[in-house]
Formats: sequence, structure tokens, C-alpha cells
Amino acid sequence: MKSIKQVLMIFVTVLSLVFILSACNTENTNSSNEDTTAEENNEETTNDSEESEGEESSDPIVVGFSQIGAESGWRTAETESIKETLENDPQFELKFSDAQQKQENQIKALRNFIAQEVDIIALAPVVESGWETVLTDAKDAGIPVILLDRGIEVEDETLYTSFIGSDFILEGENAAKELINLIGEDVETNIVELQGTVGASAANDRMEGFANVIEENDNYNIIKSQTGEFTRSKGKEVMEAFLKSDGENIDAVYAHNDDMALGAIQAIEEYGLKPGEDIKIVSVDGIRDIFEAVVAGKANIIVECNPLLGPQLAQAAKDLMDGKEIERWIKTEETVFVGAEEAEAALPDRKY
Ligand code: AHR
Repeated sequence: MKSIKQVLMIFVTVLSLVFILSACNTENTNSSNEDTTAEENNEETTNDSEESEGEESSDPIVVGFSQIGAESGWRTAETESIKETLENDPQFELKFSDAQQKQENQIKALRNFIAQEVDIIALAPVVESGWETVLTDAKDAGIPVILLDRGIEVEDETLYTSFIGSDFILEGENAAKELINLIGEDVETNIVELQGTVGASAANDRMEGFANVIEENDNYNIIKSQTGEFTRSKGKEVMEAFLKSDGENIDAVYAHNDDMALGAIQAIEEYGLKPGEDIKIVSVDGIRDIFEAVVAGKANIIVECNPLLGPQLAQAAKDLMDGKEIERWIKTEETVFVGAEEAEAALPDRKY
């Protein structure tokens, strides 16, 4: 028979075992509770990050773009490039406004963009002056303004963040240099000039660049210079007037864009002369139609000006929204084509 002492020992041992087991169980329960909490926390973090990612992608960068109009093939190509780039990228929402060549319409569009609190304003300014008031409003509203293709004249340079586009002065200089190369520096040459829109930086600077070079050669003279408003019909009309007054005296046409050059070509043919031969043609832009004219021998020199600014605008807008600094002048890459052979080789790859 077991003694009372033995029975007590067994009881204490069993009790200890029960205690140890229940302690283990509690530990397990606690640790599994911790895991659950951790999992839940993780899930929350993931959800949070998914949510904020979701929020980012459902919150596009809103760009308000005020375009000048559709006066030329170049301008249409620029509009298409910007629409195609921004409308096909879910990171953007584009608000587009066509000013139909009127600065007042552009100012109205900018005021609307400011009222709608867009993130960025892209402005292709029809003329250089008259932007202070509306751009000050944009600045006060904290909306950065990116100028596209044409520049403006403002005292306060902080009224816009960046300019994406070409060096128009250089384009004018290149047009003159190539014309002199083609005709020869010793040959007496009378030039008529078809200017772009009065007051536009594209017209002012292309005129200045061309004159810089021409003035250095006494054999070369600009005998007439008038606006053809960057359009084919006006270019033709002005060229008809030049031919009427100066007829056989004209040796070359310098057109600030291809559309006016193409109008001039028509006028010269109707007048009974051969464009590209009797009258040399140099123009700026590089649209397909002028390449075809050069291949056909009806024009001679193309100074390229790139309108495909959509990708550069998208990049600049993203950088700005990421708080990065962007270049003050984002330049476009351009070249010059002289003669039928060069034009023919380049034609298949032309994108506008
Ligand atoms: O500002 C660029 C000029 O504007 C292009 O050369 C011309 O074709 C356009 O309309």
C-alpha cells in the first residue's frame, strides 16, 4: 500500500505537468496571435501601398494645352504628336484648346485651365508679347507653364518654367548659308521673303537669323519681305504680288515655313516660271509635301524644324510633378536637306 507521502508526490507531479502543459499552450496561443497580428499588419501595409499606388494611377497629371490653331502641316503634326502622346498615356489627362490664331482665345483658354486647377499649362504662344497678366495669374495659382515651339517676351522670366522647341535664329542663319552655298557667293541674288505671323517668335527670329547672314554678303539682297501668315493660300497670294511687281528680277524665295513655300511654288508656276530652277526656294519645317516638291525639283533647301514635341512635353511634365528640376530650354534635334537626292533618301522616314 502506498504511503500518504507517495500519493502526495504523485499529485504534485500531475499538478506540475498540468501547469507546464497549460503554460505551453498559452505560449502557443500567444505566438499564433502575434503571427496573425503581423499578418494583418502586413496585409494592411500592402493594402495601404496598393491603395496609394491605385490612387496615383487614378490621379493623372492634368495638362491644359493651348494650341495656336491649324495654319500649317507642321502645326497639325505638332497637335497630333501631343494628343497621341498624352492621350495614350494613362498618367495624363489632356485638356486641349484650339485658339484659331487669336491670342485673346489663348488667354481665355489659360484662364479656364487656371479655374479648373490643371497641374500644368502647355502654351504654344501665337505671338511673343502680351502674356504678363495671365501668366502671373497662373504663377499665383501655382501652375507651372511650359512654352511649346514659340517663345515669349516677358520681363519676369519666372512666368514660365521651360521652353521646348527649336532655335529659330539658327534656322534662319542656316537657310541663308545654304542658299548662298547653292547659288554661289559671287552671284548677284535678289531674294523675296515670306514671313510668318506678324509678332510670332518663329517669324521674328527666322527673319533675324536670315538677315544676319545675308547682310554680310553684298551680292545678296532681300528686295521684298511680307507676311504670308504661315498659310499656303496667303503665301501664294503674296508671291503673286511679288511676281507682279518684280517678276523676272526674283532669284530666290525664302519662306518662313513650307506651306507658304508651297503656295509660292504654285504662284511661280502660274506666272510661267520654273520654281526650283528659275527661282530657288528655301523654306523651314520639313513636312512631307515640301520633300516631294524638292524631289520633283520644284524646291531646293529644307531647314528642318521638328514639331513632334509630345514625348518631350510628357517627360518634362512628369519630371516637374516628381519635383525634379527641368532644363530652361529643351531643344529639339534638327537638320538641313539640300537637293533632290537628300530629300529622296529622307522621304520614306518622314513622320510628318
Ligand atoms: O512655330 C513654328 C511655326 O509655326 C512653323 O514653322 C509653322 O509652320 C507654324 O505654323
